[in-house]
Amino acid sequence: MDHLRNPDLDPSLPEEPFEFSLRPQRLQEYIGQEKVKARLEIALQAAKGRKEVLDHVLLYGPPGLGKTTLAHVLANEMGAPCKVIQAPALEKKGDLAAILTNLDDGEFLFIDEIHRLAAPIEEMLYSAMEDRKLDILIGQGPSAQTLKVDLRPFTLVGATTRAGLISKPLHDRFGMVHRLDYYTRAELTIIAARSSQLLGVHMAPEGAEAIARRSRGTPRIVNRLLRRCRDYAEVKGDGVITASIADDCLALHEVDHLGLEGLDRAYLEALCVKFRGGPVGVRTLAAALGESDGGALEDLVEPYLMQIGFLDRTQQGRKATAEAYNYLGLTAGSQGPLFS
Ligand SMILES: Nc1ncnc2c1ncn2[C@@H]1O[C@H](COP(=O)(O)OP(=O)(O)OP(=O)(O)O)[C@@H](O)[C@H]1O
Ligand SMILES: [Mg+2]
Repeated sequence: MDHLRNPDLDPSLPEEPFEFSLRPQRLQEYIGQEKVKARLEIALQAAKGRKEVLDHVLLYGPPGLGKTTLAHVLANEMGAPCKVIQAPALEKKGDLAAILTNLDDGEFLFIDEIHRLAAPIEEMLYSAMEDRKLDILIGQGPSAQTLKVDLRPFTLVGATTRAGLISKPLHDRFGMVHRLDYYTRAELTIIAARSSQLLGVHMAPEGAEAIARRSRGTPRIVNRLLRRCRDYAEVKGDGVITASIADDCLALHEVDHLGLEGLDRAYLEALCVKFRGGPVGVRTLAAALGESDGGALEDLVEPYLMQIGFLDRTQQGRKATAEAYNYLGLTAGSQGPLFS
């Protein structure tokens, strides 16, 4: 059986309505990702100066780091509407053809989870992105004809958590490819403060830091933990999120000082103890943890463990670092009592 995760710490769960209200609308409000923002600012200004559409943009990085938010920000900056589709929702070529031919001049098309496009649909995108043309096959058999349709200028923004699954021809058709990185603690603290202001919650600066520290580098988790702390502050305190309110609240939810929770710890224990630090394949780890496949581990557990230096991904498989053993209170190579 798959582990049930604390939903506050699972950035892959869908956005809740309150999260929409916290989304930055303009580049200036978008905190962090300074390099990406600097490159985009230039591209935006140049496109506006030439009265052209922005180049197609591919955004990749772990869940909850702001890919969808950034796609909307780019459309807002260009003063253009943005149509949103989830790649798996496109089942037939006709679905994509209908969307593309209905795009207005300069409109943005945001395709989320773009690594999950069906092959024929992905191929259709190639000429749409490159020459703004669509080849539509009409009829069947010998009488079938190809109709060439011109598209209006548009910007495609693709987002994915799995850059490795993007095919080369698709990748090559994006004018810009940007990787979003985990946020620093200072950036997360600013995001916590900004969100608390928008939600009308009183929070001490130390409260914002306490939340930031446990947010796994991820703005979406900041916002969710903030909401938990708001409840806790209202029920157990006087409504103000202080450092101790945040600490007590997050301890109650079993989010530790690094933002790790049950599945992360189970993963580290399996890797360090059962598999003696690795190397071990992700599928084997998933099986040991009772997960149906390695996907959830690859998306939700491993990127952050690598980020904090607990995990190495090698050709041979996953390997634990000395820091991971330290965290578990073990010495490297030991077989602690955890799995006895
Ligand atoms: N740079 C930022 N500054 C402030 N808040 C942010 C920023 N990036 C994201 N957020 C907040 O985090 C939430 C999650 O961001 P978003 O939905 O854009 O992530 P995502 O990368 O698209 O995730 P997924 O891979 O799951 O689709 C947003 O609701 C927004 O409030
Ligand atoms: Mg998204």
